[in-house]
Amino acid sequence: MEKSLYVHRYRWPFAISKLALWSLIFIALIIFLFFHSPSSSYSYRSRRLTSNWGGPDWEKRVQRSARGRFHTGSHGHLSVLVTGAAGFVGTHVSVALKGRGDGVVGLDNFNEYYDPSLKRARQKLLDRNGVFVVEGDINDSNLLHKLFDVVPFTHVMHLAAQAGVRYAMKNPSSYVHSNIAGLVNVLEVCKSANPQPAIVWASSSSVYGLNSKVPFSEKDRTDQPASLYAATKKAGEEIAHTYNHIYGLSITGLRFFTVYGPWGRPDMAYFFFTKDILKGKAITIFEGPNHASVARDFTYIDDIVNGCLGALDTAGKSTGSGGKKKGAAQLRVFNLGNTSPVRVSQLVSILEKLLMVKAKKIVLPMPRNGDVLFTHANISSAQRELGYKPTTDLQTGLKKFVRWFSINCLRESRSFAISASDAGVRSVMLISKENG
Ligand SMILES: NC(=O)c1ccc[n+]([C@@H]2O[C@H](COP(=O)([O-])OP(=O)(O)OC[C@H]3O[C@@H](n4cnc5c(N)ncnc54)[C@H](O)[C@@H]3O)[C@@H](O)[C@H]2O)c1
Repeated sequence: MEKSLYVHRYRWPFAISKLALWSLIFIALIIFLFFHSPSSSYSYRSRRLTSNWGGPDWEKRVQRSARGRFHTGSHGHLSVLVTGAAGFVGTHVSVALKGRGDGVVGLDNFNEYYDPSLKRARQKLLDRNGVFVVEGDINDSNLLHKLFDVVPFTHVMHLAAQAGVRYAMKNPSSYVHSNIAGLVNVLEVCKSANPQPAIVWASSSSVYGLNSKVPFSEKDRTDQPASLYAATKKAGEEIAHTYNHIYGLSITGLRFFTVYGPWGRPDMAYFFFTKDILKGKAITIFEGPNHASVARDFTYIDDIVNGCLGALDTAGKSTGSGGKKKGAAQLRVFNLGNTSPVRVSQLVSILEKLLMVKAKKIVLPMPRNGDVLFTHANISSAQRELGYKPTTDLQTGLKKFVRWFSINCLRESRSFAISASDAGVRSVMLISKENG
């Protein structure tokens, strides 16, 4: 009897602790599955980063970065929030704006779509140029509202997006997260800001999809996207129309055509071809039906930057306030291309000459993964209204890229170990020697 009492007294705590243990294992399993599912990985990382912002020191850094210098432009200095600032185009645009005297604050979630150490190296470059990059997600309304509380931005240069055509088949939700939900969130915050900023944002040449009329003009049809990426950019253009129409936001969409250059994206062909050719690894060149060549209107980064600055400088003011429209506002869309498409096989020949290495080529039929056969921009509209005039041919632009690559990316161990000097300033290393 005494024994049974004893057993009874101790069975309850034992049962409870067993239950607690199983609950803990169950919760741990759910957390593990949540954070390791591909669709949630980006949003989790960016949400986790939101704790990094706020506080008096942070606000001072934001304000300092947003402060402009007087410059010779026609209308004083701008105060620009650049989303996707640690990205390829965002870095160049931010440095150019700051360099001419505008105030710039960057925003980026440093996601892992490609090597984040490249984004961190760009962040260091931005820091040296006086641009503070806030770590956070464009879907974080609290953060965006806070930024507008701290700085009355005159302009938003919205470049943050999930880029890349092929990756959309692997991680479709990341496109919806950044290119649709993120864009809507940015526009929601801009609409309720007082004063409302003017917005310039990156659409893409991929909206032309299966359009076969060349060169691609802004008036051509864009209702046949060939990839989910293209569909989200096209959706972005329609969303922009809505926010312009209802809330009086001044919005300019820029359709970039295959941008390349120093600090570029490792997921793009010119970048990984360079890497693979130097490693002696075979590269795959795709061709269309009946051996048709794939061609792109490759556009050098400095030309794109000039187009972005031209769009910011000519952007009309938003007309709404407190979320209410007061009159019609500007809504524009421009092609920013180079107007001279080059075959991918020609791109490879230029790289072979610059790298002094013969590429091992594999030619395969283009898979149905969202890529289109060719792109070719008509830029007369941007020329007329933004003063856009691309001046860099592919040979010249690739030479600058290869020089940057040789300094910063050649040895895996030195990956993106950027020194204080800019890539263009230092002398070219002997690539063939490094390769050996
Ligand atoms: N590079 C091109 O050839 C090209 C062509 C057409 C259009 N575009 C568009 O231009 C813009 C810039 O492209 P890029 O080549 O610099 O790409 P990128 O990937 O280098 O830059 C985008 C940046 O946005 C950030 N970002 C992504 N989602 C975010 C989010 N939810 N919150 C905060 N930051 C986020 C990323 O970390 C990245 O640093 C993109 O909108 C892209 O779709 C680029």
